[in-house]
Order: sequence, then C-alpha cells, then structure tokens
Amino acid sequence: MKIHGVAYRSVWVDQGDGWSVGIIDQTKLPWALKVLRLTSRDEAAHAIRSMQTRGAPLIGAVAAYGLCLGLRADASSEAMERDAVLLAATRPTAINLRWALDRMLTRLRNTRPVERVAAAYAEAAAIADEDAAQNEAIGRHGLPLIEQAARSGRRVNVLTHCNAGWLATVDWGTALSPIYTAFNAGIDLHVWVDETRPRNQGAALTAWELGMHGVPHTVIADNAGGHLMQHRQVDLAIVGTDRVTRQGDVANKIGTYLKALAARDNDVPFWVACPSSTIDWTVGDGVAEIPIEERSEAEVTDMTGLLADGTVATMRVVSGGSPAANPAFDVTPARLVTGIITERGCCDASAEGLLGLFPERRVA
Ligand code: MRU
Repeated sequence: MKIHGVAYRSVWVDQGDGWSVGIIDQTKLPWALKVLRLTSRDEAAHAIRSMQTRGAPLIGAVAAYGLCLGLRADASSEAMERDAVLLAATRPTAINLRWALDRMLTRLRNTRPVERVAAAYAEAAAIADEDAAQNEAIGRHGLPLIEQAARSGRRVNVLTHCNAGWLATVDWGTALSPIYTAFNAGIDLHVWVDETRPRNQGAALTAWELGMHGVPHTVIADNAGGHLMQHRQVDLAIVGTDRVTRQGDVANKIGTYLKALAARDNDVPFWVACPSSTIDWTVGDGVAEIPIEERSEAEVTDMTGLLADGTVATMRVVSGGSPAANPAFDVTPARLVTGIITERGCCDASAEGLLGLFPERRVA
C-alpha cells in the first residue's frame, strides 16, 4: 500500500545491507512516520512486545525475521531453539507468532548451521510474501459482501474495530482488504472506525491508513456502534482476528465481542477476515482456551495525543490513585459470527465451515 504515493510494506529487509530489518514504528503514528532498523533478536523482540510493530500476521513475520537476526549472531541449534522460545513469549494471544516460528523451526532444524542464515531469510521472505498474497485474496473474496450491500443503491457503511489494515499485516490487511478492494473497484462506501481504546489503534492507525488511501471514514467512540446499528447506519461489520479456533470462535481486540452482540441484535452481518495462519486447529473453545494478554494499566490510565503547539504529549485521564485493568483481547463465540473470510473463500464460523475450506485439516 502507499504512503504519499510511495509503496510500502510493513516489514522489509534493508536493500542496502541485505540483512537488517525495517519496520514502521507504529507507536509514533499518526503523528510521525518513523522507520526503525532492527539489527538483533532482542530489538525484534522489543519491537513486538512494545507494539512498535503489531497486528497478528505482522508480528509473525517480524518474529520470523527476528529469528534470522538471532541466527546471524549464533546459528547453533541450541541458540535457535532458545531464540524461538524468547520471541514466542513476546505476546500471547495472536497465534500467528507461534505459527511463524514453528514454520521457521520446521524448515531450519534439518539445515546445517552453516546454511541456516540464508535458509532462514528465504523462509521469512516466503512467510511475508505469502501473507501479502493471502490478504490480497481475502480482499477478492470479501468484495462480493460489499457489492451485495451496494445493491441497495445507497452508500455502503462498514464498521470495523481496531486496526486490521495493511499496518497489521505485511500488506493489504485482513478486514480492510475487502474495503480497499471495493473502494478501488469504485463502490461508494464509508467506514465507521471504532477508536479502539485503550491504545486507539482505530483512531490512530486505521483512520491514518484509510485517509492515506482516500477511503471515506469517520472515527467513532467505541460505545457508538450499537446506536448506529439500531439506526440502520451500519450495513455490515468486518473485523480482523488474532486467533480463530477450529470451531470458529474468534479472539480479537477488546470490544469486538460487544460489537458482535450489537450486530446480532440488529441483524447486521458480522464478518471476520483472516489468513489461515490465524486459525489454531489445536484449540476448540475460544473463551476457555485462548490466552488473553493483560497489558499495562498505564495504557488505560494515560492517553497520548497532539497538543495545539504540535508537540506529542502523554497525560493521565483517570482519577489519581484509581487502579485500572487492561485485558487486551476478547473472544467472540462462533454463534455470533456471520462468517469467516479467508484466502480460500468465505465459510461459516463452524468446524464444518472451516474444514470445508481446509479439508487437509480433517483428522481421519
Ligand atoms: O494488539 P494489536 O494491536 O496487535 O491487536 C491487533 C488486532 O486485534 C487486530 O484486529 C488483529 O491482529 C487482526 S489484524 C490483521
């Protein structure tokens, strides 16, 4: 996708040195476009943990490159296994992180240490390229859902939560990919962007992305979605996900579940978009089994924004002395999900629906 007309991915290998890893520092957006150069496993781990880089598919790709950086320092099997464990521990909910590291280890365990660095970079590049291609396909498969809503002849209003755009993936995005595809096809659409407290990924990142691409959008307070649905101002909701269970339960940014409840009460289709790397076939009951990340209470008590003089400042917005809790994700049960949009097409949020698209996952 483009920033001021220049094509970017959200992670890349530096063309100059051929090994360091570039990312956009997402903690600085939308106030500044700052590129970070990662040169070690520890810098990659810090970037994921601190959310300089974020979004389920993207942290998988950055972790894969983090393993490459670790192998440059020590390509032994012991170091590789240790680095993979360290990188996997940076964030607990998005399964793409573990998926990417498992894929790297499967490729590298039987590779001689002397050949590992080159093999690792090739595998990390394949993970990144496949993610971009899968997300582009999600856009094509999600397009008919928006086309169908456009048949009314009115502008289509899509609601989304958090940031599931190209900044959260290697390119295109998951939930935003059908939106970009429909917009590029000339469909008249408008996006309701949930601000997504506490970290404001909607207000800061989704709004910035959509603005860069020229997609009409409006940021709303997280609590506004239900009201808009009651007044028929939302034609469909599309969100991303950090982990889908084999029965179709969906973990996503905190607040997604409440949007799904409001959508069900108002007959608004509630779609979830993800590449297959986000499906955790080992987990059935999402509420019981998916680990939910607890983040710092400072993310709730404090907010960062632009002052009138152009400086960026962080200030406390919670009454002094009051503690805060910060569960970062919730789980929407499959029964509230209209369907899942994947790189292979759309399916019901159910075991049968998912296995219909991924029959190789059937156990005999
Ligand atoms: O905590 P974050 O910002 O990494 O959470 C991201 C989300 O919840 C996204 O909706 C999810 O990763 C899907 S992204 C393509």
